[in-house]
Amino acid sequence: MKDKENEGRGRRKLEHLRLFQGDNSGGNGLEDVHLIHQALPELDWSDIDLSCRWLGKTLAAPFIINALTGGPPETTAINAALARVARKTGIALAVGSQKGAVENKEWRASFTVVRQENPDGLILANIGAGNPPAIAAKAVDMIAADGLQVHLNAAQELVMPEGDRSFRGWLDNIRDLVATLEVPVIAKEVGFGLSREAARQLYHAGVRILDVGGRGGTDFAAIENRRRERQITALTGWGLPTAISILEIKYLGPLVEIVATGGIRHALDAAGALALGARIVGAAGYFLKILLEQGEDNLTREIFNWQEDLKRICLLTGCRTPADLAISPVVITGQTRAWLEGIQYHRV
Ligand SMILES: Cc1cc2nc3c(=O)[nH]c(=O)nc-3n(C[C@H](O)[C@H](O)[C@H](O)COP(=O)(O)O)c2cc1C
Repeated sequence: MKDKENEGRGRRKLEHLRLFQGDNSGGNGLEDVHLIHQALPELDWSDIDLSCRWLGKTLAAPFIINALTGGPPETTAINAALARVARKTGIALAVGSQKGAVENKEWRASFTVVRQENPDGLILANIGAGNPPAIAAKAVDMIAADGLQVHLNAAQELVMPEGDRSFRGWLDNIRDLVATLEVPVIAKEVGFGLSREAARQLYHAGVRILDVGGRGGTDFAAIENRRRERQITALTGWGLPTAISILEIKYLGPLVEIVATGGIRHALDAAGALALGARIVGAAGYFLKILLEQGEDNLTREIFNWQEDLKRICLLTGCRTPADLAISPVVITGQTRAWLEGIQYHRV
């Protein structure tokens, strides 16, 4: 049974890599976030410092290469390359779901390679929300992870032909994970966003870091639809765009750290997300597409470009650090503004 399950999981992992097409699920909402140009920044280039501390380590910039892959041996080279890119650019890295590797020794090399290539880097383990602490702890140990991402992917499972249909008990399980594990737990959506209701549930379960995984980039409904005969079009465009998801959960204030991901494609997107209150910004699909189509050196160069461009944006908004962006003025327009007004209308 376990062997059969893993065989199916392996096939699915490789299909995701093949069918993933660098989707753009229709706007991450960050085009509605306008930073204000300051003609008198009173700063030098050398004043701008992108470095930050996160989970006990220092990053060169507040960026993460988000969870992508691992498992079948074909994925080892991808994870090795991602780990080298993260090391060279000084940013964080999350691996793909490790469930299969906890159960199957032969798959472990595709994950342990990230520690060989990036021994001192900030690396996050990854597991589905239904997995008990014993499995999660093995995933963390496997790569000496600095934190554990717990993915929430109900929408993906529902489009996946062989996907789960049972989503009860995730919250209790997450509470157990937070209480048991020695590393911080990060709850993470995979492209449909976190609402304020979900954020509140997660906060009460003890989670203090939320990766919004918003709509606007990789679209798992589309990817899974490519694996089906009958297309589930009802979920096309489902979910909360990244900008809206950040604002939805920001009401928890400084109680939670926000990781902004979902359709982030350049430093201006990243700066907009930081200005809305995110602490770390990342991408999965965008980075994977560059790696697969243009190679490791070009991905490294692209991330260095993001860092330089973020410095430019910080300087021109009068911000010494990315954290200063969160207290600099922004104007919010369009659908994102309408959503904010809609929330108030319903709550008052
Ligand atoms: C090919 C592929 C595989 C992925 N596998 C995982 C996974 O195993 N675990 C997970 O938490 N997220 C996984 N993701 C989701 C990403 O981490 C991310 O949440 C999502 O793609 C949205 O970000 P993006 O728009 O920058 O791609 C995967 C994404 C892609 C493109």
